[in-house]
Amino acid sequence: MKGKILVTGGTGYIGSHTVVELQNAGYEVVIIDNLSNSNIEVLDGIEKITGVRPIFVKADCTDINALTKLFEENPGINGIINFAASKAVGESVQKPLLYYRNNLVTLINLLELMPKYGTKGIVFSSSCTVYGEPDKNPVDENAPIKKATSPYGNTKQISEEIITDYIHSGAPIKSVILRYFNPVGAHPSAEIGELPNGVPQNLIPYLTQTAIGIRKELSVFGNDYNTPDGSCIRDFINVVDLAKAHVTALERMLEDKSEETLEIFNLGTGVGLSVLELINSFERATGVKVPHKIVGRRSGDIEKVWADPAKANNVLGWKATTSIDDTMRSAWNWQLKLRERGIM
Ligand code: NAD
Ligand code: WQD
Repeated sequence: MKGKILVTGGTGYIGSHTVVELQNAGYEVVIIDNLSNSNIEVLDGIEKITGVRPIFVKADCTDINALTKLFEENPGINGIINFAASKAVGESVQKPLLYYRNNLVTLINLLELMPKYGTKGIVFSSSCTVYGEPDKNPVDENAPIKKATSPYGNTKQISEEIITDYIHSGAPIKSVILRYFNPVGAHPSAEIGELPNGVPQNLIPYLTQTAIGIRKELSVFGNDYNTPDGSCIRDFINVVDLAKAHVTALERMLEDKSEETLEIFNLGTGVGLSVLELINSFERATGVKVPHKIVGRRSGDIEKVWADPAKANNVLGWKATTSIDDTMRSAWNWQLKLRERGIM
């Protein structure tokens, strides 16, 4: 065993894929999740893929007593990957305090307990949302942080500042902040994937639900942007590629491969794809048509953003390698699996 890693939010979308990669790389994993946005069957999927069932603690990371108990009962946690957070942008505007409490108290609790239990480092899930509408693309890690347009986005900015201030204060911990672009797709086994609650707000789950007939048609929010086909441009990163970057970043941090106590990396493909191009890719890869229509712009949308992943490529030695067509096939196979299981 390489070490014991606490994965908060480990039954969630990105967390579950990362647990698979951690176990494949020889780490022992302890998951904490309150199942507010995931379900316990995810553990079966992880076990089917890896042959190992991770330790699971159902508890809330905002509960410091529950977290303390977890550290007491699972001694020797070397590192943490903190996925646990509320992530719906629209809901965060309606319920800002829920977002500030959940996302910030979770992080503060973890940071407070790390020195006490000798936990060396924490990997934090941040987002390209911190760049807002960037002045230029591709975006590297030195691009200015723009004023957040939602409480959710603000929790990511504040979390980055909390980690930075804590490390600068001399706290005996290290951290890697990972800024994800748009994570999409599912594990190629179709044993785990994204499980949106209710009507999906994000593009891919809405698209796959439309393709399978749960939704009538996909609305494309705007075709009058300053982009080649008029629809918005994003950097869609395969979730397994993204998960692998966590293992590499964690290893670098825990094995002192860097002198730095705090590092920040963009995780994207480096390629911007428009919403219409993505629909085309899905149809090409799966042979399934996606009924769609152009509607007005969605308020608050960024016109175009894609990553400059050179730092992650060169320093971490990580690169996104899965083609967009393979990613679309994985998203479709996951949607088919959900129907087979009677979930959706
Ligand atoms: P997700 O909702 O699928 O996973 C989050 C998990 O955390 C869920 O299983 C949920 O039940 C759990 N959770 C939430 N609050 C908790 C708490 N207080 N205690 C214990 N468990 C709690 O989301 P995801 O897409 O896997 O995102 C993971 C992380 O990555 C989040 O921090 C998110 O903000 C960040 N992120 C996601 C995206 C994206 O597009 N999916 C992009 C950038 C950043
Ligand atoms: C992508 C594109 C939509 C749905 C969000 C968060 C961001 C980050 C990633 C966590 C946009 C268009 C969408 C639909 C559409 N999350 N679209 N029809 O907005 O890039 O980012 O998730 O940190 O913070 O804001 O992702 O998937 O919602 O949208 O046309 O039904 O698809 O307008 O251009 P977004 P998304």
